Amino acid sequence: MPLITTKAMFKKAHEGGFAIGAFNVNNMEIVQGITSAAGELNSPVILQVSKGARAYANHAYLVHLVKAALEINDIPIALHLDHGPDFATCKACIDGGFTSVMFDGSHYPFAENIEKTKEVVEYAHAHGVVVEAELGQLAGVEDEVSVDADKAHYTKPEEVFEFVEKTGCDSLAIAIGTSHGAFKFTPEQCTRNPETGVLEPPELRFDILEEIEKKIPGFPIVLHGASSVIPKYVKIINDNGGALKDAVGIPEAQLRKAARSAVCKINVDSDLRLAMTAGIREHFNQYPDHFDPRQYLAPARAYIKELVAHKIKEVLGSEGSAPAILELAKELK
Ligand code: G3H
Ligand code: 13P
Ligand code: ZN
Repeated sequence: MPLITTKAMFKKAHEGGFAIGAFNVNNMEIVQGITSAAGELNSPVILQVSKGARAYANHAYLVHLVKAALEINDIPIALHLDHGPDFATCKACIDGGFTSVMFDGSHYPFAENIEKTKEVVEYAHAHGVVVEAELGQLAGVEDEVSVDADKAHYTKPEEVFEFVEKTGCDSLAIAIGTSHGAFKFTPEQCTRNPETGVLEPPELRFDILEEIEKKIPGFPIVLHGASSVIPKYVKIINDNGGALKDAVGIPEAQLRKAARSAVCKINVDSDLRLAMTAGIREHFNQYPDHFDPRQYLAPARAYIKELVAHKIKEVLGSEGSAPAILELAKELK
């Protein structure tokens, strides 16, 4: 089975009230952990690669790792460029075997975002590749994505119809209160649960999401910055020498609610980083004499698999949907 675009995935996700997990990949163990969970659960998956991942691992390595995962798991997989910063990067991925690209023009003025997104859409569609665009800006700091909280702003529902119509994009990333990284909210923005001590963040702006859905009914919506920062992995990290104080993510119940709506793609990177780091730290704490990378990368990979299986079953709701998506993808070709 070749790589597919996200078209069949999003159609089935929208009809079925679930979402497709889009997981960032940077090396072999991450690809293996994600796809073996998805394979066992018969779930589609989007594997996404950032500009930073291409710089770290090299485009060719990542494409071939993903193709190897396809040979081993009989599930629908899309290979997606995450936060494509410019036409040249999008073109390199379209020419280089990706089936989906994001052009992130969210920091440009509205008209310029439309113009630049449209240029990518025209090239992508001519090559059978789909395009995710973004309106509104998320806060957060990652290697290649950095937006100060005061510069972040929600998507304006009154802009989405014009944007989607003029650009011809295939899906739209929106800002409704999620943000990138493992520290999504300051303690001051949260309420601390008096029993558990865990910080509880403010609710996502489901009212904005509803307004957007009304303006572009049935159009696939994407949530970036959607890691939950699962307390289990943060605790393992901190119990084994780490120092992640007051890390906080998006509660799973809110993501499940979003997955039932027009949100068809939910992006997860920080949770993978936390699971992997937890596995490595825990291993070294138990076995300080180990130095074979397979010894500490195997438990890291196992935690990634456990995390992704949990997301598919409890948050995304995509378990078992692979056969119908594969069937539809053949028809749409
Ligand atoms: O949204 C950004 C992703 O988490 C990718 O992060 O640019 O550090 O690879 P990165
Ligand atoms: P998180 O940092 O919440 O995992 O978001 C990842 C993301 O949006 C990748 O584009
Ligand atoms: Zn993102």
